[in-house]
Amino acid sequence: MIRAESAYAPVLAARILDVADPQRHTAVVRVTHWINALSFFGLLVSGVAILLAHPRFYWGEAGGVGTPSVLDLPLPFMKGGPSGWGRNLHFLSAWVCVINGLLYYVSGLLTRHFRENLLPAKSDLSRGSLARLVSSHLRLERRGAENSFTYTFFQRLTYLTVLFVLLPLMIWTGFAMSPAIVSAFPGIVTILGGQQSARTIHFFAADLLVLFFVVHLTMAYLAGFRGRLGAMITGRSPARVEHP
Ligand code: HEM
Repeated sequence: MIRAESAYAPVLAARILDVADPQRHTAVVRVTHWINALSFFGLLVSGVAILLAHPRFYWGEAGGVGTPSVLDLPLPFMKGGPSGWGRNLHFLSAWVCVINGLLYYVSGLLTRHFRENLLPAKSDLSRGSLARLVSSHLRLERRGAENSFTYTFFQRLTYLTVLFVLLPLMIWTGFAMSPAIVSAFPGIVTILGGQQSARTIHFFAADLLVLFFVVHLTMAYLAGFRGRLGAMITGRSPARVEHP
């Protein structure tokens, strides 16, 4: 329930609304989100450490110094550098991410979280509604308190892309670089064109995830970092919301 606070202070009343403390995120969403954020950090740091050993990308099955590359990062080769601990941390973080992700996906399906909170509503897909959304985003308009407990259309679209395209692609291309998994399921790498293609796709998908991460934090900040972050920690939206 949302109501204006005081008849004696109309200006203040217009800006501050009491909101009946609704449940914003379930415990499974919150716990898996923060474990995922930790594993993402581990994957990122260790991914850079591994990359520094050989900052070039190839297409096909094999590639190496002296063969044509598709991308040459302007970084020195650090043979014997941090890639040893990098690999250990990368595999550990990847398994944490996979197991934690499975828990989130199963729970999201069973509780209808994906369908109810992440799939865009049919009404959002009409041309008029999309045009309104784009123009309000371009004007950096803040949403009213009554709408701040749901995800916007673009948030839903971005989360769905991350959850159902980018993260599965990272896991697939990661598995496609594992000799043990490839020896059991060779199809997962041949369909990509070879191990070097898998490594290159893995790198570009990781870049898109980093881009998502930067935009994700920026948007959370613009939407009111304390409220959004607090809700992702405690599960509850703040009882009082500043209405711009
Ligand atoms: C320190 C790092 C992070 C912070 C502070 C953060 C913060 C948040 C906040 C505040 C929300 C709720 C947004 C809202 O209520 O409008 C959220 C949701 C979400 N975040 Fe993050 N996030 C972080 C890292 C990540 C990473 C690394 C990923 C994925 C690669 C991610 C994916 C998501 C997803 C998919 C949701 C929607 C969850 C759901 O409702 O099922 N976040 N995040």
